[in-house]
Amino acid sequence: AFVLALALGGGAAWFYSSAKVSTVGRGGFRNQLVVPPLARSTVAADGTRVFDLRMRAGTTEFKDGQETPTWGFNGSYLGPTLRAERGEKVQVRVRNALGVPSNVHWHGMDLPARMDGGPHRMIAPGKTWSPRWTIAQPAATLWYHPHPHGETEDHVQRGLAGMFLLDDARSRALALPQRYGVDDLPVIVQDVKFDGARFDHGHGVAQSVGFLGDRTMVNGTLDPYRVVGDEQVRLRLLNASTARTYNFGFDDSRAFSLVGTDGGLVERPARMDRVQLSPGERAEIVVRVRPGERTVLRSYPLDVGMDFFNQRFNGGDDTFDILELRAASRLRPSPALPATLGKLEVPDGKDAVRGRFFDLKLSGINGRKMAMGRIDETVTRGTTETWTVRNTNGMPHNFHVHGVQFRVLSVNGRPPGPALRGAKDTVFVPNGTTVKLAMRFTGPADPNAPYMFHCHLLLHEDQGMMGQFVVVEKGQKAGRPPMEHAHR
Ligand code: C2O
Ligand code: CU
Repeated sequence: AFVLALALGGGAAWFYSSAKVSTVGRGGFRNQLVVPPLARSTVAADGTRVFDLRMRAGTTEFKDGQETPTWGFNGSYLGPTLRAERGEKVQVRVRNALGVPSNVHWHGMDLPARMDGGPHRMIAPGKTWSPRWTIAQPAATLWYHPHPHGETEDHVQRGLAGMFLLDDARSRALALPQRYGVDDLPVIVQDVKFDGARFDHGHGVAQSVGFLGDRTMVNGTLDPYRVVGDEQVRLRLLNASTARTYNFGFDDSRAFSLVGTDGGLVERPARMDRVQLSPGERAEIVVRVRPGERTVLRSYPLDVGMDFFNQRFNGGDDTFDILELRAASRLRPSPALPATLGKLEVPDGKDAVRGRFFDLKLSGINGRKMAMGRIDETVTRGTTETWTVRNTNGMPHNFHVHGVQFRVLSVNGRPPGPALRGAKDTVFVPNGTTVKLAMRFTGPADPNAPYMFHCHLLLHEDQGMMGQFVVVEKGQKAGRPPMEHAHR
């Protein structure tokens, strides 16, 4: 036992660099939460809804009187919330005014690979990229962020991220809180660390999971509170951190209702008091407040069992006060939540035509590092597959697939918990875990345009824990990725 402890201790010294962090009870909810504005759009003659995003550098005042150098879309930090309707044609004109190459990926969107903004679709400084597609999926909380190969963690940390909300006729008709910025709040959670006015993005001593900050922001607001005037509030939680996993709940552990996961509404609201989100994942929850009270959205230590590696290497013991909700003394009554919300459109795997296996191990997947010129997997349009993803790597990872939403069939051979029973595009795969996913590839066949799959701990993605797949017609072969867009 002594030898084992020594061995673990040695590992810990190499991996573990941050002491336990807690911001609980600091009581510093001093800033009214900023809600990102809804992006303006115009409608072209053919009905296409057109948005304009401009990536630019600037400074942001997070702390009184201190300007932090940041990047943002249209403003200096984060970006406006894009919003479109199922069936609608959209175009986003993305202008890169950063002075360095970057790009934008539409995380969770079902769209042609050429429009997806992977590492091959770089936007040169001063240039504009204008992808267009038709919204072909249910109402959901999606998001957008850069994806330059080897630099994604850096570009996201500087502030490039925003939400992309989708609606459909059914979601609009449901008795769910849906007044944006009133009873329906975007909650973009990021951990940060300051060195004076500047961000400190250091990884610490060989911190193999990437950057872990010592405090959190919501929508770019430090120490945020929000006054709410309705009995029920919908929070669209997005973990936009680059490495940290959160275990969200309230300070009194009150129950809330999970109404949506990454890819949209769940079939029926699920009561729970914690929801865990790894980087890139979303959850929509509805919480009830009482007149005049204050309640704090908190992140608790992770629920990853006794696993030493998961506890240590992801800040697993850390606790953060995320956002204080201040209920007005008189609240508008909210209708009871509907008993059913919709039908999941993700496959159950019964019609799967093949399975694939992915082993997550730093710095690759199935023993291979991302290579821009190599297609790793070729899938047939319109078919369903099961993908089994395993992590025995001694640190946490997660798994994100572009262009599809999937269903989690099992976690270590058991049915998934309620927070994983919806449409997903990203799933936490802590050490010692195997998840089995079912997905159907509906995107148009294009043997030369790859989609990505990767760990969404962005340092890991940058280090090569990413692969590429193409969707082809039956019998077609994969082509070559467009190398001309690679900048490194
Ligand atoms: Cu949110 Cu490939 O990423
Ligand atoms: Cu990883």
